[in-house]
Amino acid sequence: MAQFGLIGLAVMGENLALNVERQGFSVAVYNRTAEKTDSFIAHRADSKNIVATYSPKELVAALERPRKILLMIKSGAPVDAVIKQLRPLLEDDDIIIDGGNSYYEDTARRSRELQASKVNFIGMGVSGGEVGALLGPSLMPGGNKDAYEAVKPVLTKVAAQVEDGPCVTYLGSGCAGHYVKMVHNGIEYGIMQLIAEAYDLLKTGLGFNHQQLHEVFSAWNASPELNSYLMEITADIFQYIDPETNTPLVEMILDAAEQKGTGNWTVISAMDLGVPVPTILTAVNARIMSAYKEERVKASQVFDGVSGRYQGEGFVDKVRDALYCAQICAYAEGMTLLKAASQVRQYHLNLSEVARIWKGGCIIRAESLKSMQQIFHEQPNLSMLLAPHFKQAILSRLAAWREVIATATQLDISVPAMSASLAYFNSYRRDRLPQNLTQAQRDYFGSHTYHRIDQPGTFHTEWTPVDAASLQTGTAD
Ligand code: 6PG
Repeated sequence: MAQFGLIGLAVMGENLALNVERQGFSVAVYNRTAEKTDSFIAHRADSKNIVATYSPKELVAALERPRKILLMIKSGAPVDAVIKQLRPLLEDDDIIIDGGNSYYEDTARRSRELQASKVNFIGMGVSGGEVGALLGPSLMPGGNKDAYEAVKPVLTKVAAQVEDGPCVTYLGSGCAGHYVKMVHNGIEYGIMQLIAEAYDLLKTGLGFNHQQLHEVFSAWNASPELNSYLMEITADIFQYIDPETNTPLVEMILDAAEQKGTGNWTVISAMDLGVPVPTILTAVNARIMSAYKEERVKASQVFDGVSGRYQGEGFVDKVRDALYCAQICAYAEGMTLLKAASQVRQYHLNLSEVARIWKGGCIIRAESLKSMQQIFHEQPNLSMLLAPHFKQAILSRLAAWREVIATATQLDISVPAMSASLAYFNSYRRDRLPQNLTQAQRDYFGSHTYHRIDQPGTFHTEWTPVDAASLQTGTAD
């Protein structure tokens, strides 16, 4: 009998099956198309402790109890379809793990539905791409706690290992795991956009070639502040030469970014919960804008383009500082969202643990997560930007950050996410924002009422002189 089952043999599924087997567990696999299964067994899984099955029934029969079946299939309707097939075949305490990028509300619904039939369900975020799946991803499981304990021996071995343990932890009940993975992706969008803007500033603003870009990003990646997986792959990308044209491949790639939805979901959830996430929101917008390629090309012929090169000194270091500050904001937005969601949705998230399991394996792994882990360990409820470590980091780079945004504006280079994060920081640290005027306008045109700073209660004013000469009415608390 096999110890672990896996459905879905696309690259992520294949790699996870190989990873689980490498850790000493026998695996049974099933894929909708038998040819895929045969080819996997004949090649990559050859002479491994992995058996092929050709129907859900056969897979279920091949597994020891309680059965543990990981789904690595396309999120959405296919997950429901496979659960529907499996459900009548499974017995009490068997466990289905959905390892796709499922929408967290779907996961919550599936958890509820499966609870009734005593089949356990774990919604698990898996991050790290194809290599991560094979060598050690970051795993973000949520759902039934007992079911997690049953799969823990496998997950702790399969996950990426960092200095203080495997990059997996039980995150909370229901859809907590998929919610955390969604926010991980929101942060991923934010950081990718910020890196893209830094690239644009150096390429367009300074005229750097790809060798220079490679050197700058490599140096940044070597610094504790900016060391991260995304920085590392960016440095690599600049070095890759397209064999067809003998030019850097990145310049041959169409500048229209695609997306599968997780960034969007993060923003929608943040807006629903009343959490500002401007860096992440702007990153989603930037991908959408980039997809308007044809219209942008037309507009570039109507309006003048970028207005020139930067002539001053030390711009590379200033961009580095701005990038670091803005990245802190992207993480802070994500962490604040997780805190709010945890309270409202009762996930009971431990943000220090979230930072810990993001230190290895996942796409947003970065040296700075060590500080976040420590900060949330010491003060779980602290707002990240107020932690002395990040406060100091930002204050010492604020002048550079400001200058980069000002310079970019002068040069007509759009840096939407870097600007949004600076505005986020500047709004966050203002004790008085101009939304008193917004409140006055709302009350003026819609009698929506307002609160006063000098007395409690809810107030309304007849603002138009024709109506009873600006009478203020109020009810004290
Ligand atoms: C990960 C990634 C991954 C995601 C891709 C593509 O953590 O390994 O987040 O899960 O699917 O990055 O996402 P987009 O197509 O939305 O960019």
